[in-house]
Amino acid sequence: MADTITVTDNRTGKTYELPVTDGTINAMDLRQIKVSGDDFGLMAYDPAYKNTASCRSKITFIDGDEGILRYRGYPIEQLAEESNFLEVSYLILKGELPNQTQMDRFRHEVTHHTLVHENTRELLDGFRYDAHPMGILISTIAALSTFYPEARLVNDAENRWLQIVRLIGKVPTLAAYAFRHRRGLPYVYPDNELSYAGNFLSMMFKMTERTYVPNPAAEKALDVLFILHADHEQNCSATAMRGVGSSKVDPYSALAAACAALYGPLHGGANEAVVKMLAEIGSKDNIPSFVKRAKEDRNVRLMGFGHRVYKNYDPRAKVIKRLADDVFEAVGKNPLIDIAVELERIALEDDYFVEKKLYPNVDFYSGLIYQALGLPMDMYPVLFAIGRTVGWLAQWEEMLVDKDQAISRPRQIYLGESERPYVPMSER
Ligand code: ACO
Repeated sequence: MADTITVTDNRTGKTYELPVTDGTINAMDLRQIKVSGDDFGLMAYDPAYKNTASCRSKITFIDGDEGILRYRGYPIEQLAEESNFLEVSYLILKGELPNQTQMDRFRHEVTHHTLVHENTRELLDGFRYDAHPMGILISTIAALSTFYPEARLVNDAENRWLQIVRLIGKVPTLAAYAFRHRRGLPYVYPDNELSYAGNFLSMMFKMTERTYVPNPAAEKALDVLFILHADHEQNCSATAMRGVGSSKVDPYSALAAACAALYGPLHGGANEAVVKMLAEIGSKDNIPSFVKRAKEDRNVRLMGFGHRVYKNYDPRAKVIKRLADDVFEAVGKNPLIDIAVELERIALEDDYFVEKKLYPNVDFYSGLIYQALGLPMDMYPVLFAIGRTVGWLAQWEEMLVDKDQAISRPRQIYLGESERPYVPMSER
């Protein structure tokens, strides 16, 4: 069987044979399809990239129908159970799990880039007391490019790696500083003796104690949540990272753009909406009437349910649900969990949700864990960004070394006015 597709242009009667590679046709092959010699050639129209592969990637595999998520071939469930965030970061960036020497070196590199320039404090002072931490994070990540001007040499692999470890090291520090600024609390310097997640908790919550000892359950939960959020192939923010990075700008500017994409409520903000929804429902007795509203009123949605890609239980939600039990045992139960579990049970038995293949997504239970850990709601997308930094950087690196890639620049279908003469103001 030939791996080609035959297209007949009914406008001209001409037939074209286009190669099919990896289940796709090359959009540039369409350009030979013309009605006349001066015709630009056929284009594909795909706003929101619903059916366009923008790259070849070896990082993350998702099968939305089966509910499968793998980083570099390893199932997310196994990584969450057996690995840790820094090891998963190495895997995502380098393609293979590290041996002990590689792991030790990577840990050393990341932990020795956790400090940020002291001028960052002055930058933070410029923000209002109630500034959203995501706005602060985006701005301070972008500002890092001014401290490391050599980061613009993006064609140098060694230089790229230095910026990658710097970013993985510094993003949690900036995130914690954003939180402390909000509270009017002194900034806490990184503690390199602690794990990646433990150090983050220390920078968030350390008060006057000489040494901060993270709660092991909280530390483990945060580490697993970072793993679950580390990458999700070509989503909105990864696409922003690749698109902005394709101009060969430094990675701090590109990562700030990716972070800005994540800030949007359709991307990184749903976990907050879930907690608000559960609080609004208030008690198990109110669940049936809420589910009825979610089915009947198009403006009401069961937040944390449904996904563009997953038409099955989001594998990350399964891991998080189990994790929630461990966290609640250690730090106390979030009373909203009983409502969440009952809501899930009722929805999964309801024809509306079954027929539309609406299952809990990653955000359904994660907010409840964050809340139990004492994290305010506006920090939820910030926590997402810490884990996802690794994925953004891996996508950026893959894009830069891919010979097929060039500056991102889609075409348009121009539907505006054709040429017309300028009219002076007095004649309009
Ligand atoms: N509650 C009620 N009905 C829903 C829900 C929901 N959560 N999600 C989808 N539907 C319905 C829609 O009304 C639509 O019905 P219709 O066919 O009668 O018009 C149908 O299911 C398909 O929904 P779409 O919005 O077309 O699906 P899409 O793939 O565009 O949207 C999305 C996916 C945005 C995630 C959607 O399911 C949603 O809004 N869920 C709630 C918000 C949420 O949890 N977002 C987090 C996603 S995970 C993440 O970004 C990290």
